[in-house]
Amino acid sequence: MKTAQKAAPKKSASKSSKQQKSNSQNSQEATGLRDLFQDSLKDIYWAEKALTKAIPKMIKNATSEELVAALTDHLNVTQEQVTRLDEVFNTIGVKAQAKKCEAMDGLIREAAEIMESTAEGVVRDAGIIAAGQKVEHYEIATYGTLTAFAKILGENEAAELLLQSLNEEKEADDKLSEVAEGSINLQAAGEDAEEEEEQ
Ligand SMILES: [Fe+2]
Ligand SMILES: [Fe+2]
Repeated sequence: MKTAQKAAPKKSASKSSKQQKSNSQNSQEATGLRDLFQDSLKDIYWAEKALTKAIPKMIKNATSEELVAALTDHLNVTQEQVTRLDEVFNTIGVKAQAKKCEAMDGLIREAAEIMESTAEGVVRDAGIIAAGQKVEHYEIATYGTLTAFAKILGENEAAELLLQSLNEEKEADDKLSEVAEGSINLQAAGEDAEEEEEQ
């Protein structure tokens, strides 16, 4: 908060059509949440863009057809989510801008490490799913918060768009659980048994 105006109020901000200053008592808090909302949007914008580059690497490393299909589907969804965020920025009248998301950067690096350190096949597939679900959970938390922020800020159009992405992330998470529980985890556990027999 670098500008705490104490004395003479400055000339009314006539250029801004946003009527957030109706209650001067709360203006600082509302402005604070709006700033946080915008910062978080820039963060997830960076994250989604980074994922459009990271998911293809996961697809390349995956073996199970079902997993490849699930990831390919979610890559398309992710690209649409980037476009949807453009719309969100547009509806709130803020220039679309990406700000590095350290958390997503870490999750993507972790995914790369898992892929390097696992044997190709079901075990690597299980690792890709684990890494993918961490990503989805981060996104679910982010879109959940952003939807709530948008609602409270009266940005209903943005809230609806963000809710759509939230639901898509939940679907992706469920799909990954389904793929894992369907066969991959069981087969990967079978690899353990084989390894033990060999020893
Ligand atoms: Fe996403
Ligand atoms: Fe996602």
